[in-house]
Amino acid sequence: MAYTKNRIEEIQTWLKDNLNEERYIHSLGVMESSVELAQMFKMDIEKARITGLLHDAAKCFSNEKLLDIIHKNIPEVQDCELLNYKTLHAPVSAYLARKNFGITDTEILNAIRWHTLGRCSMTDFEKIIFLADKIEARTRDAEFRHQCLELLKENNGLNKALFKCFEATIKSLVDRHLAICHITIDVYNELLEKTAE
Ligand SMILES: [Fe+2]
Ligand SMILES: [Fe+2]
Repeated sequence: MAYTKNRIEEIQTWLKDNLNEERYIHSLGVMESSVELAQMFKMDIEKARITGLLHDAAKCFSNEKLLDIIHKNIPEVQDCELLNYKTLHAPVSAYLARKNFGITDTEILNAIRWHTLGRCSMTDFEKIIFLADKIEARTRDAEFRHQCLELLKENNGLNKALFKCFEATIKSLVDRHLAICHITIDVYNELLEKTAE
């Protein structure tokens, strides 16, 4: 499926109306960074562009609205995904990508669905979207972005950069006394093993 310029503009218009300014700018950053990483790893650039742009589509919905959409339309969401309200927008954003924008490509939908928690055996496409969300140049920390880009140059760099993200995420969740979904811990353990030298 080709994603035309018109399509991207239509999505941008919807996002402008449904996200706050900061989140909209972040979404543009993730779109750009997804393209950057897709080029680096020779993946489908247009798919990366639309996935990055849509990944946070539901981010500014209220928790009540997110939970209502999940309960009514996304029965596959697991209880542990509901532990932290900050992750609720991921399955709902994937739902919106399908429902509002007619995206049927499961690689795109899965990359959006798992961009907060991650999941074991993530595909490389899921990994670049996850990483783009953490290192986009518009709103994320420049030093962290630089460190991840340096890791990407190394052998097994994608796993190394992703591991760094999971390490930082888990540390931050602990520091803020927030619940950690076991899926995130499982991914951390998997990447620890994959990056052990
Ligand atoms: Fe997000
Ligand atoms: Fe995001």
